[in-house]
Amino acid sequence: MSRGIVFRRAFLAPALLALAGAAFAAEPTATVAPYGQLPSGEEVEIYTLDNGRGLEARITNYGGIIVALRTPDRDGQSGDVTLGHDSLAGYLESSPYFGALIGRYGNRIGGAQFTLDGKTYKLAANDGPNALHGGLKGFDKIIWKAEHSVEGEEPTLRLEHVSPAGDEGYPGRLTVAVVYRLTADNALRIDYEASADAPTPVNLTNHAYFNLKDGGASPVLDHELKLYADFFTPVDETLIPTGEVRPVEGTPFDFREPEKIGARIDADNEQIRFGGGYDHNFVVRSPDTGLFPVAEVYEPTTGRLLEVESTEPGVQFYTGNFLDGSIRGKGGVIYEKRSAFCLETQHFPDSPNKGHFPSTILQPGETYRSTTIYRFSTR
Ligand code: GLA
Repeated sequence: MSRGIVFRRAFLAPALLALAGAAFAAEPTATVAPYGQLPSGEEVEIYTLDNGRGLEARITNYGGIIVALRTPDRDGQSGDVTLGHDSLAGYLESSPYFGALIGRYGNRIGGAQFTLDGKTYKLAANDGPNALHGGLKGFDKIIWKAEHSVEGEEPTLRLEHVSPAGDEGYPGRLTVAVVYRLTADNALRIDYEASADAPTPVNLTNHAYFNLKDGGASPVLDHELKLYADFFTPVDETLIPTGEVRPVEGTPFDFREPEKIGARIDADNEQIRFGGGYDHNFVVRSPDTGLFPVAEVYEPTTGRLLEVESTEPGVQFYTGNFLDGSIRGKGGVIYEKRSAFCLETQHFPDSPNKGHFPSTILQPGETYRSTTIYRFSTR
């Protein structure tokens, strides 16, 4: 008899919680607290956005880093689904871009140079022969000007930065604004905007590492992925696209129907070998403009579902192949290889050197706009 009661309580509690959540959502809030100092003495803040319906984001103005993202599992238990560090010091010491804003150019530029309007621009080669994620001091390592507020039901954090002409080798002065926003339907929405006073490449993204089960304590190989992509862009051994746009059909890159991330991650396939797993740009099946579905990831034990939508034509699907157990992250957890996945919405890598890829050149007088949504629910 007592077993029956326990069962019923365990069964009822989450249902009641969900009901209560829907009917009596708490007030959405946005708050700020000190997060520490850079070695230069500059003060850094951390912002907590809470939509009052179960989604909470902690974001610092250092690198615009998403430090934590808490979402309920199917039993209503809240858990952090991102990798990162417990303190600012951790990020300063060692971070493969955990949760950070990436710019001016997310992903790689081949040979760390590009030619624009007849002039060649040299960038720092910070990834073998190539430029990666904005250079030595990209947008992931600067202090953004920050302003938090609650707009209607939506806690928001607006970050702004002016990148001077010549910053990390890129031409033109670039003015950037990024808005993080939690919506009432449990999504984190990121809106990017930029303008420049000279033609310059721009490709902004966020580099959150997700593990929907336990925030990085175990591999993500049993997470089920669906990608709305019929093509991907194969790479050379330094992960620069060859220029080919290849159908996923009949390859380990076909995620058009949901498949476990780990099902084919060690396949005997040259592209898998080059990536050490998945570290590739997928061409998102997209109408011309607007937001469209990019990916869905489902974690069967917790029931968490992440849906990604974006205005971007590509997404880098990366399976944490470079994590190697050398980083001890939040709660002392050691991040092993493939303990996370990233879905970096973007224009294609090396576009400034690939005339047939969608252009990443922002012209003066134009406004760069990009939106990505990470929506959480359970099944
Ligand atoms: C991106 C790249 C990977 C790797 C990570 C950071 O996802 O595509 O190759 O550089 O960033 O470690």
